[in-house]
Amino acid sequence: MARARGRFITLEGGEGAGKSTQARLLAEALRARGCEAIVTREPGGSPRAEKIREAILSGLVAPLGPVAEAMMFAAARLDHLDNTIRPALARGAWVVCDRFSDSTRAYQGALGTVDARLLRALERIAVGPTKPDLTLIVDVPADIGLARARARAPGAPDRFEAEGLAFHETLRRAFLDIAAGEPERCAVVNGADGEQEVAAAIWRIVEDRLAPQAQRATPRRMTKAPRRDAGPRPARRAAQKGDA
Ligand code: TYD
Repeated sequence: MARARGRFITLEGGEGAGKSTQARLLAEALRARGCEAIVTREPGGSPRAEKIREAILSGLVAPLGPVAEAMMFAAARLDHLDNTIRPALARGAWVVCDRFSDSTRAYQGALGTVDARLLRALERIAVGPTKPDLTLIVDVPADIGLARARARAPGAPDRFEAEGLAFHETLRRAFLDIAAGEPERCAVVNGADGEQEVAAAIWRIVEDRLAPQAQRATPRRMTKAPRRDAGPRPARRAAQKGDA
């Protein structure tokens, strides 16, 4: 019997929301319950996409303009899906991804530079049918996120972290709007809580929506063992029937 497709969970949110830590903790929780789980991230997550990530975050792509930048995120996503996400899902693994296409909607879209129709088209092309089963929006007030992001990389903010507070407020609103618009896919968690509390909240949502226990990849026991001494094989039995 073909193995069931794995589950695809994305974590989204502004800067310093603690997504990376939560992605790791979620994967550990899944593994502790017998599920295969991988953690991956965007931009990046496959060797070629990691190269694109370097180019974007170093500021090499920005001079090409916001549309080209959105296309670079989409190109990285295509490769990431083809080489990391889809193969993992196909073998039944859980994929926990730190940022995905909602980040493009929020950063390239809601921050006001790239036309939403263009972004939707790019999303259709890059993501296709591989939409997340669940998106966790890790929400923190912009000032907390910004302070955390700055503490993480003192003196060396990357291109996106260098933006001001208004940028972070807009970003937060963008993610909350995405969650409100697609409540069946998205859930918001309070990222201002302590690490363990956030992890527990995330686990409750995952259990509630995706029931990992029920899909655990345990070795399948045969419920009805084939009986070697069970008389005529089906084909012969059919033949016998046909003869009658
Ligand atoms: P990263 O260091 O991974 O940031 P974080 O820890 O906050 O996730 O850098 C990724 C940056 O790229 C982040 O500022 C968000 C931005 N980004 C986009 O602008 N568009 C996208 O589609 C993605 C995936 C990320």
